[in-house]
Amino acid sequence: MRTVIRNGRIVTAVDDYNADILIEEGKVSMIAKAIDATTDRVIDAKGRLVIPGGIDPHTHMELPFGGTFSSDNFETGTRAAAHGGTTTIIDFAVQSKGMALSEALDKWFAKAEGRTSIDYGFHLIVTDMPDERLPEMKEAIRQGVSSFKLFMAYPGVFLADDATIFRAMTTAAEAGGLICMHAENGIIIDEIVKRALAQGKTAPKYHALTRPTKAEAEGVHRAIAIAEIAGSPVYIVHLSCDDSLQEVIRARDAGLPAYAETCPQYLFLDYSVYEKPGFEGAKYVMTPPIREKWNQDKLWRGLQMNDLQLVSTDHCPFCFKEQKELGKDSFAKIPNGGPGVEDRMSLVFNGGVASGKISLNRFVEITSTSAAKIFGLFPRKGTIAVGSDADIVIFDPNEERTISAKTHHMNVDYSCYEGMKVRGVTKTVISRGEVVIDEGKYVAKPGRGQFLKRGLFNSPR
Ligand code: URP
Ligand code: ZN
Ligand code: ZN
Repeated sequence: MRTVIRNGRIVTAVDDYNADILIEEGKVSMIAKAIDATTDRVIDAKGRLVIPGGIDPHTHMELPFGGTFSSDNFETGTRAAAHGGTTTIIDFAVQSKGMALSEALDKWFAKAEGRTSIDYGFHLIVTDMPDERLPEMKEAIRQGVSSFKLFMAYPGVFLADDATIFRAMTTAAEAGGLICMHAENGIIIDEIVKRALAQGKTAPKYHALTRPTKAEAEGVHRAIAIAEIAGSPVYIVHLSCDDSLQEVIRARDAGLPAYAETCPQYLFLDYSVYEKPGFEGAKYVMTPPIREKWNQDKLWRGLQMNDLQLVSTDHCPFCFKEQKELGKDSFAKIPNGGPGVEDRMSLVFNGGVASGKISLNRFVEITSTSAAKIFGLFPRKGTIAVGSDADIVIFDPNEERTISAKTHHMNVDYSCYEGMKVRGVTKTVISRGEVVIDEGKYVAKPGRGQFLKRGLFNSPR
């Protein structure tokens, strides 16, 4: 199958020019001013942007949490991702306590294989890492699972103590892996939660009010300090607020290999969502919680200055009916997480490029290229170049759409952004040379997506 994309404006993290792209055997084989070749398919991209497929390095399909599972599986979740212009996800396989890392990976392979519409990789959530298991981390890295998430939150379930974090960081550093940190002081948070519940404070808003920004910032500070002692890079996931960002800035200014992502919910939503009437606030119960509005400008500045390297989603949807309702009587029982994988590209384009906060190149960098570089996928993914996978999005920068659960493709009964008008719409999506979304219509077969063996961590600075 040979495809040519004509008349488009190609934008990568560094380039911006008009040219044609020839795709052969799933890869970009030629980029030239005008390509004169016999092809099976011609895609006209006139008036549109031609950008690298989005990479969302933080999703949770079918994640077990609080007695239920996140409501998108790998079939529905990757189809929705494709609709939104994301062609690669990196999902989190979970090691339960006492479980071998290989068993955790086998479980996630069984969930994903034969179901995805786009390519996927895995990180490993590590909950238990005694000395004798450390070689398993090195084996996972050899198999292309080169990053690990550890939690400073959720004592008794996910929390890894400082010794475990130190062991994991030392081992990852030796083998070229990367530790991703859920940075929040979960011990103190649990104490505050206990006190709130004892005072009868059970409504969703108390999820936010029991997780102070300082508890997150303390986790970020400690994660970076332990990484420095271990001689390891560290990547802070779902950074939500300025207190935490200041810790990352301080570390980066000191030359430490500290990296961080934020998510659309922290850029576009604010604490007032928890003050919505009735149980509505449960829709936004995620961790860290959504913060006071003034933090948003600080996070945008972090993205502008490269103190934050990228925007992921932390896509972890639970239906309002029946799943979020598990916490009707106590915010502590509301499953943590929200949907987002489908809307990331539009939201960041609208809030970033259309509103003049970031350039088009930076948009590509924070939605695709940085993730490819940090997570060992570059230059196969994350750019448009001869030899790279033809993961390409044809994006209309002028069209508007209104985000709604009525029209989204995620398997969840609400949207965090219901009614929000955004400029910038994904029209056609090509994954390894195959059109999966054609002018907004899903045309692929689930199961065509491939597992991505990722390379070692390679500092993008
Ligand atoms: O609330 C969230 N973020 N749920 C998903 C699990 C995690 O901590 O990333
Ligand atoms: Zn987390
Ligand atoms: Zn997450």
